[in-house]
Amino acid sequence: MEKMKDLKDLLKHEVMDLYSAEEQIIEALPKMIDKARDPALKKALREHLNVTQKQKARLDKVQQLLREKGEELPAEKKGFLSGLFGGGGHKCKGTQGLIEEGEKIMGEDMNTEVMDAAIIASAQKIEHYEICGYGTAKAFALELKLNNVAQLLNETLDEEYEADNLLTKMAVGRLNQEAELADSKKNTGKAASTANNRTPAKNSGNTTGSNRGATASKIGNKSSGKSSSAAGSTKKNNAPAKKATASGTKRSAVIGNSKTPAKKTTTKKTATKSSRPRLAR
Ligand SMILES: [Fe+2]
Repeated sequence: MEKMKDLKDLLKHEVMDLYSAEEQIIEALPKMIDKARDPALKKALREHLNVTQKQKARLDKVQQLLREKGEELPAEKKGFLSGLFGGGGHKCKGTQGLIEEGEKIMGEDMNTEVMDAAIIASAQKIEHYEICGYGTAKAFALELKLNNVAQLLNETLDEEYEADNLLTKMAVGRLNQEAELADSKKNTGKAASTANNRTPAKNSGNTTGSNRGATASKIGNKSSGKSSSAAGSTKKNNAPAKKATASGTKRSAVIGNSKTPAKKTTTKKTATKSSRPRLAR
C-alpha cells in the first residue's frame, strides 16, 4: 500500500473501504432474506438490498467527484487507490468479519423465530459498522471542504440510520419477544398480548446506548458535529456543515437492539454536548 500523505488520501481509502463493504453486503443480503421467516423482516431486508445497490452507485459518484476535484491519479498512487478507481482488489476486512459472523450464527440449529432475532442482530452490527464508516468519511470530506462529497456520504448515512432504526423497531416491538417465547407454544397468546406494551428504551439488549452524535465521525473531528441531518421522523436539512442542529438529540438513539426516544431539544448548547463521543465500539 502506498503511503497516505494527508487526510484526502485517507478519505479515499475510507471510500474504498465503504465500496467494498457495500459490495459484500449486496452479496450477503440474499442469504439473510432466504433465512428470514417473518414477512416484514424479509421485506425490510429486500428493500435494504435495493437501497444498498443505490449506495454503491452513489460511491461511484463520490469517486468521480474526488477525481474531478483535481486529484487526478498520479502513477505512484495507483497502488492503494487502484481499488477505489476501478482496479478492484481491496476488501473491507471489518465487513467481511461481520458477515462471516452472521453466516456462522445463521448456520446454527435454531427455531425460526430465534433465527429472525439473530438475523436482525447480525444486520445491525453491519449497519453500525457502516454508520461509523460513513460518518467518519463525511467528517473527513467536510474538513476538506468537499461539500458535494459530504452531501452524498450523508445521504447514505441517513439511509443506514433509517435501516437501523427500522430493525430496532421490529426487534424490540415484536420479533425479540417471539424468539423469547418460540419454544413454549402455549405462551403464544401472551406474546401477542404483551408485545405492544414493550418500552423499547428500557431494553438495552446489545445496545451501545448511542445516538447520532456518537459515531466515530464525532471523534476528533471538529466539523462533524455540525452537519448531521436526522433521518426518519425528524429528518430535515440535508446540507452538510451548515446547520448546527443537535444531530444527536434530534435522532432517536438507534444503535443496537435498543432505542432511546429522541428528544426534541435543539439548542446549540445541547448540540455541542450531544456531539461528544459516547460510542464505545
Ligand atoms: Fe450500506
